Amino acid sequence: MKLILLGAPGAGKGTQAEIICQKNHIPTISTGNILREALKSGTEMGLKAKTFMESGQLVPDEILIGIIKDRLQEDDCKNGFILDGFPRTIPQAEALDGMGIKIDAVLDIEVPDEEIVARMSGRRVCESCGASYHVLYKQPKEDGKCDSCAGALVQRKDDHPDTVKERLAVYHTQTEPLKEYYSKQGKLLVVHGQDAVEATTKLVLEALEDLT
Ligand code: AP5
Repeated sequence: MKLILLGAPGAGKGTQAEIICQKNHIPTISTGNILREALKSGTEMGLKAKTFMESGQLVPDEILIGIIKDRLQEDDCKNGFILDGFPRTIPQAEALDGMGIKIDAVLDIEVPDEEIVARMSGRRVCESCGASYHVLYKQPKEDGKCDSCAGALVQRKDDHPDTVKERLAVYHTQTEPLKEYYSKQGKLLVVHGQDAVEATTKLVLEALEDLT
């Protein structure tokens, strides 16, 4: 399965990607995680991305297109993959089409903006492995500690309400046009994000049934 996950920041793409990739034994390629790793390791790319990410803006297309081109050539992508966070602009989608990879479907998770702002303020991520939690909806077994690696759970800098609003504005102007782009290719599947993760997962798996 070669799948793109689309949706506003905080719509639940990362959460659903984790479930779909475990079920199908394919990797998730999260451009946000790749950029955050680069930032943590202090690479040139990470430093370039820092200001864009922390202000809620998109990192320039050429950086992201280069990352994805290299990543999709790795062996673990041969039997499929989930793209979480790419493409985010029409030029990125056109570049992906130009790589000659046939995407099976684009799953759009729809969540209203008001709900997103509330959700993001409760998200906590593991400082060490990047796993994602929520103070209400996805609590760790031990308060403030990651279930998988015991790393400290912290709030992402770009999850502060003002930055979330900026990320939403960027999403509506630059990423949302991708819905029409992929709808014209007959690949768009739409799921409405629910209040509980499990309820959204049920709808997601139903939408993907014909692809698995
Ligand atoms: P990225 O990390 O990709 O951020 P995002 O798309 O803004 O997505 P998030 O990770 O914030 O949200 P999500 O949809 O995965 O939600 P999650 O499952 O965590 O990108 C960060 C930055 O990197 C961008 O702003 C940009 O600067 C740069 N970047 C990345 N890719 C780029 C690209 N291609 N081009 C240019 N720049 C790029 O869920 C959110 C929270 O809600 C969690 O706490 C979760 O537990 C909870 N939750 C999930 N589902 C539910 C539910 N159903 N009910 C209740 N709570 C739920």
